[in-house]
Formats: sequence, structure tokens, C-alpha cells
Amino acid sequence: MSAESTYHTQWTTRWAFILAATGSAVGLGNIWRFPYMAGENGGGAFVLVYLLCIALIGLPVMMAEIAIGRRGRQSPINSFRTLARLGGHWVGWRFAGWLGVIAGFFILSFYSVVAGWALAYVIEAARGAFEGAALEDTRAIFGELVANPAALLFWHTVFMLMVGIVVARGVQSGIERAVRILMPALLLLLVALVLYAMNSGGFAEGLAFLFAPDFSRIGPGTFLAAMGQAFFTLSLGMGAIMVYGSYLESHASIPRTAGVIVVMDTAVALLAGLAIFPLIFALGLEVESGPALVFEIIPLAFGSMPWGSFFATLFFVLLVFAAWTSAISLIEPLVAYFSENRAWSRRFSAWTAVTAIWLAGLGSVVSFNVAADVELFFGMNWFAFIDFATNNVMLPLGGLLIAMFVAWVLPKAVVMEEIGLGGAKFTLWYTLIRFITPIGVVAVFLNAIGVI
Ligand code: PHE
Repeated sequence: MSAESTYHTQWTTRWAFILAATGSAVGLGNIWRFPYMAGENGGGAFVLVYLLCIALIGLPVMMAEIAIGRRGRQSPINSFRTLARLGGHWVGWRFAGWLGVIAGFFILSFYSVVAGWALAYVIEAARGAFEGAALEDTRAIFGELVANPAALLFWHTVFMLMVGIVVARGVQSGIERAVRILMPALLLLLVALVLYAMNSGGFAEGLAFLFAPDFSRIGPGTFLAAMGQAFFTLSLGMGAIMVYGSYLESHASIPRTAGVIVVMDTAVALLAGLAIFPLIFALGLEVESGPALVFEIIPLAFGSMPWGSFFATLFFVLLVFAAWTSAISLIEPLVAYFSENRAWSRRFSAWTAVTAIWLAGLGSVVSFNVAADVELFFGMNWFAFIDFATNNVMLPLGGLLIAMFVAWVLPKAVVMEEIGLGGAKFTLWYTLIRFITPIGVVAVFLNAIGVI
């Protein structure tokens, strides 16, 4: 595929964009990260702040991202540069695109390792390892997996190869087809798990943990963690949604498409929470088990169900697909940039990016075993630091720049044309990205470092 056709191609329909963007948004962030972040940060208090961030920052920023992408019609770096230049502004705005590309690079480097766990779990589930398993068993299975660098390396490699294969071919053919079937299937299976959890005996407690905020649990880190999660789960702040927006037809409604994506993504996260926390309470377990949480609890639930191995296999297959469609969008801004600026073929761009990210992922591979206690920065090991730096710092910063760019740099007439809202609705959104988003993000940062 020539460089030209890479960024001039378009989705076949508006729905293809919605599906691809939903495929990007729904991933490990919803099913793996959301439950453990909620568990570690006090449940309801975290969920409340998270939902506020989704509504007041996430949705407006998503609209802004799609608008920049569709107006610029190139990779995020070049869209920023072109639009800035057209308006007579500083072309250094392209560094906002670079920030996103770098964030995507490092996110995918650890994302792939976790997706590798899900791949390994497909095999475990299929061979019946969870059947009748007790908590000690599922803990042991997870513990053995992450303690084994060779296994993690193997699955990380498999996952990065999967990403490379799709991205090398171009986004449309691969992604469109996959998400159309997989997303609804994942949703159905999650609903089934929630129904199971409802009968576990811990449903009321799980519900209360998630939705009855205990404000005393709001601490210095809560706002930052919730905001980081909101950006991460919606794929915002790094150009993934922007680059997908660059392939969107001109007359599709940005507010409506963004609304659908945000609602679906939030629904999946909440369903995952509702599937997991009741079981945790029914079994009298700790909610604060970190990244291991979902990988220990979900197999436990399946293990005691009729047809458990079958459904567990299906679940992890779908989780792998959800991660896959997200990973593709994490790498796409970089690949689009390579093929625009280097006269590299789409294929060469894709495999170069995959190789570099695979290498960076080695740091995460060893973070769960041999280098688990190597504190690189601020007492965190590589995985913890990369997760923190990308999700809690780089994505919100990227989102801030995106909002500022649309609100203060692009001419208002252009923005109105892209967003297509009239009257009070436009004013509301414009006010949100002009003032509320920037102030909100900065306030959360200041709060986290103890200034306010
Ligand atoms: N939103 C994805 C998830 O929740 C992760 C992601 C982040 C994808 C940023 C693209 C960009 O798993």
C-alpha cells in the first residue's frame, strides 16, 4: 500500500468508525485495569470520580480528537502541524502529536505483555486448568505464569506478531471485520458473568462497593488515578482516536459517534466490575490484589460453572480480541507517521514499529519476576513506572493539549463546522474544552503533587 493511500483511505461507513473506535476503547483497560484500580482506590469513591472524568473531560476531549483528525486527515503529528500552519500558528504544536506517539509506544510495550497473559489463559482454560479450581489454584496458575520470564516473552512475542500482521495490511480490512462480531460477543459473555455474580451471594456488597462512595477513601492519589483511567479506557490523549477520525467521512456527526463510543466503553467497564466484585465479597477476598485481580477471580467463577472450561476459553479469546483491536490503535499513529514521512511502505513501517515496541516490552516482561524489585523511579519497577507515566501523566497532558488546540488555536468557525452542534449544546461543549478540561487536568496534577 502506498503512503498516499494510507492516509487518504476512509472507513466504509460511519458505523465502521464507531466499531473501530469502540474496539480501540474497549480492551484490557475495561476488564483488567478498571476493576483493579477501583479495588485499590476505594471502590465507589473512585468510580464516582472516574465517571465524572468520563463525562466532563473524556467525552469533550474525544470530540476534540476526532475533529482534529478529520480536519487534518493525516497522522496526529502531521495533522497538528498542518492545522497549526494553516491558521498561522506555531508548527511546534506537532510535539503534541509526538507526545501521543511516544505514549502509545510505551503503553503498547506493557499492554502486549498483559495481553500475553490473556493468550496464555486461553490455553489454560481450554485444557481445563480452572475446572473446580479453588482460589489457591487460580493464584498458583497466575503466580507461575508471571514468575516465568520465558513464558511471558513467548506470549508477548505472539501478541506483537498478531498486531503486526493486521497493521501491516492496513487498518480497514482487518479491524472492521473483527470488531463487528467480537464486540457484541464479548458484551454477551460479560452479561452472563454478571448474572452468575448476581447469584453468588455477594451481589449487594459488590454493588455497594462500586456505587456507594465512601468519601473518606478519597486520598491524594484518587483523582489522578481516576483521570488516568478515564483517558486510558477511552483511548484518549495519544492520537489513537484522532488517527481513526482522520479516516472518518466528512458528514458523520462527531458528537453522536463519540457519545456511542463513550457509552459502550463505560458499560463494559461497569459490567466487568459487576461481574468481579460480588465474587470477591462472596468469597471473602481482598479487593486490593492489583494487576492479578481479574486473572485470579474470573477463572475461579468459570471453574465452578457447568461448561466452565468452554466459557472460560471463549472469555479469554474475546479478551484477547478486545486487547488486539486496542493494540492496533495504539500503534497506528506511529505507523501512519512513518508511512507519511519516511516514504516507507506500510508494511515496513508496521514491522519497524512492532520490533521497537517489542524490545521496550522486555522491560515489562522482567518486571513480574527477575526485576520485580528493581526500583527504577520513585520506588516503582519498570512496569509500574511506565504504567504511571503514560496513563497518569502523558495521556492527561496530551488530552489537555488536544483540548487547548481545538479551543484556542483552531478558528471557531472551523470547529463549529466539524462538531456540527448548534446553540446551547455547542456552547456547553466549547466551554468544557476551553476551561473545564484544562483547569480540571491541571488541578488534578497540582492535587497529586500536594499543591492543592
Ligand atoms: N482503551 C484501551 C483499553 O481500555 C487502551 C488504549 C489506550 C488504546 C490508549 C488506545 C490508546 O484497553
